[in-house]
Amino acid sequence: MQVKAKRLSSISSAVFFELTQLKTELRKRDVQVIDLGIGSPDTPPASHVQEAFLEALRDPRVYGYATTEGTDEFRHAAASFLYQRYNVVVDPHTELLSVIGAQDALTHISLAVVDPGDVILIPDPCYPIYEVTALLVGATPYRMPLREENNYLPDLSAIPHDILRRAKLMILNYPSNPVTAVAPPSFFADVVEFAHQHHILVLHDAAYIELTFDGRTSPSFLATPGAKDVGIELHSFSKTFNFAGPRLAFAAGNCEILEALHIVKSNIDYGVFLATQRAGTITLQDHPDIHIAHVRELYQKRRDAFLNPLYHAGWDISPSQATMFVWLKTPHHMDSRVFAKHLLEKTGVACVPGVGFGPEGEYYVRFALVQPEDVLTNAANRVAHTFQ
Ligand SMILES: Cc1ncc(COP(=O)(O)O)c(C=O)c1O
Repeated sequence: MQVKAKRLSSISSAVFFELTQLKTELRKRDVQVIDLGIGSPDTPPASHVQEAFLEALRDPRVYGYATTEGTDEFRHAAASFLYQRYNVVVDPHTELLSVIGAQDALTHISLAVVDPGDVILIPDPCYPIYEVTALLVGATPYRMPLREENNYLPDLSAIPHDILRRAKLMILNYPSNPVTAVAPPSFFADVVEFAHQHHILVLHDAAYIELTFDGRTSPSFLATPGAKDVGIELHSFSKTFNFAGPRLAFAAGNCEILEALHIVKSNIDYGVFLATQRAGTITLQDHPDIHIAHVRELYQKRRDAFLNPLYHAGWDISPSQATMFVWLKTPHHMDSRVFAKHLLEKTGVACVPGVGFGPEGEYYVRFALVQPEDVLTNAANRVAHTFQ
């Protein structure tokens, strides 16, 4: 009897699995691995947020079921945050929902608005879950190439007509994982027009919206005129507020999409743990700008600590504009899987082969800046000396 559902057969994590195995093997041999693979924050939330969390945990009332949509306090705090930071106005009751992290929301939104056989437009390269989401809901993912010569923006006019006819949802992500690019407001304006024209919904994943460098800011998709007519935006606490474990994000924008998402979620989960929502509310209300400035500086310094040794060794580098990653061309046009494996074996430095994010990621690798500056400089020196 075949246990796994057929829909799982097209989901492959081979690229990640092979490196995880190699890391385990090396550790068994006492090799000191510097793991720059997964983008899991290595620093905690602000201390007042930790205190709020602890205090909430002592309140017996937080242990009951939460509601699907989130507490009033959390949704009002999230709506005010959107207004204060991005000049975006949403109704906290009809245009905003709490979700158990952006990842949870991605598949649930697709379940809510996409039918089997529809097409979901996704960037290439992209966060691998976008493709998996499409496959899980029986849709066909269509990859929109992101290339350096186009500033890592998809060429919307290159999407074939038969794909557009079947496309129901477009997923975008700026600042983007893994390519680290920021999109200008003019691109979002083009997306809104395109979505109207072709009757496509838009899901903008803003997981890295605050992690911008060198004085840049990244616009909210929802600040684009007409955006709320066609789409929603996901704001995750994981990276901006070092809150990956507790699982907290919110979805904001088009009320019909959110109503459909609410139906799916109310049948699948019981919402976000109330203690997490309380800590999240404090995060948004109590000077979030101070923490954001700190976290931006942290990753910018780490980016420089990692890239400087490579730059001096003559590597072809485009400094990350944003996120917590570095996206590097492999030397001598090396296959990204071969490079990552070789690098791990020779130096103990773990990265992710670009092809794991889609075919357009081939000949690139991604390093996550999840170690202190001195460790990153050490890792970069090892990389530079191994591949002259
Ligand atoms: C682009 C992108 N979106 C979403 C997520 C997951 O966010 P969350 O922790 O809120 O589920 C990640 C995590 O790496 C990511 O890179």
